Amino acid sequence: MLSSFALCREHLLEGNLAVLPTETVYGLAANGLDKNAVEKIFNLKGRPSANPVILHVQNIERALEFAYVDELAQKLADHFWPGPLTLLLKKKEKVPDIVTANLETVGIRAPSNQIFQDMLNCLTFPLAAPSANPSNRTSPTNAKQVLDLFGFDCPPVFDGGPTQLGIESTILDLTSTIPCILRPGHISAGLIEECLNLKIHVSNKFHDMHSLNQKSPGTSKLHYAPKTPTLLHDSIEECANYKKFSSEDLILLPASSSLFRLKGVDCSVDYLSKNGDLNEIARSLFSKLHEADQSGFSCLHLCLIEQKEDLALAINDRISRACFKKF
Ligand code: TXA
Ligand code: MG
Repeated sequence: MLSSFALCREHLLEGNLAVLPTETVYGLAANGLDKNAVEKIFNLKGRPSANPVILHVQNIERALEFAYVDELAQKLADHFWPGPLTLLLKKKEKVPDIVTANLETVGIRAPSNQIFQDMLNCLTFPLAAPSANPSNRTSPTNAKQVLDLFGFDCPPVFDGGPTQLGIESTILDLTSTIPCILRPGHISAGLIEECLNLKIHVSNKFHDMHSLNQKSPGTSKLHYAPKTPTLLHDSIEECANYKKFSSEDLILLPASSSLFRLKGVDCSVDYLSKNGDLNEIARSLFSKLHEADQSGFSCLHLCLIEQKEDLALAINDRISRACFKKF
């Protein structure tokens, strides 16, 4: 159910769950220092215990209580926090093992969403919060999607409207010799390199990570799948040449295109942004996937974005992981 700020706070104080907006996606929050509370997150999501969750704090000063913050982390936090950047740091004793799935590192970030910040400011503990979706389903970018996803089991949800960015935070591992992006997001490699004045790595392994000792266990393939079978096409043009559309299919394009009308394609066509604006595509991707899931299409078709900007990499990562088959 939708709830007031006060009721969400009460639930969190009692060791229960509440759903709060962040600037990226909605988060399923619990007291990050209470292992029983965090266990409720894993149970509700059906999340494997080997997949750690991110700790959310107000700022870098609070992060010092839970992680060893080196010079690079300090610089990045000064520059990008509060904001959509999760830092993987060596954890301190205080952090319960369930949060980090027994790893020596903790993922930590200060979200910029004002409601989330207000909540942190009136609690004494950090909030553990993964995206508020059952495991392997698409992350929610508005309150209604959360209610749809969890149904009767849904904890109180604070409705903060649609999220501003629409895809999850960048995850940067600062515990490897060279900093490495494990999940791309709005804070790109270029921005991080500029801030650190240092070349960093971008892992191209997020699609192959299935084993328990992988660096970021939740970044496995098919992490964001809608229920409706979803096919991946390499480009809009390639999609337009596909010969097997059925009238019950939905083609969800990154930008509007007349190709499909010209070719007489007889199924629904929608777009993530009329003119292919990357910020708009990021913001609308998950909500369009949710809507499509509710509408009973027999198959969805997604196309990779052909732009070369950094944000396109993050969006293509989410698009390809929503699909089960490549054409
Ligand atoms: O934008 C976001 O990051 C959102 C909002 C709610 O903050 N949260 C989010 O959490 O996307 P989640 O749990 O859905 O994704 C976090 C990812 C998972 O893939 C998890 O495996 C990885 O971060 N992760 C968390 N802690 C880690 C750690 N200590 N080591 C490696 N990977 C970690
Ligand atoms: Mg998630």
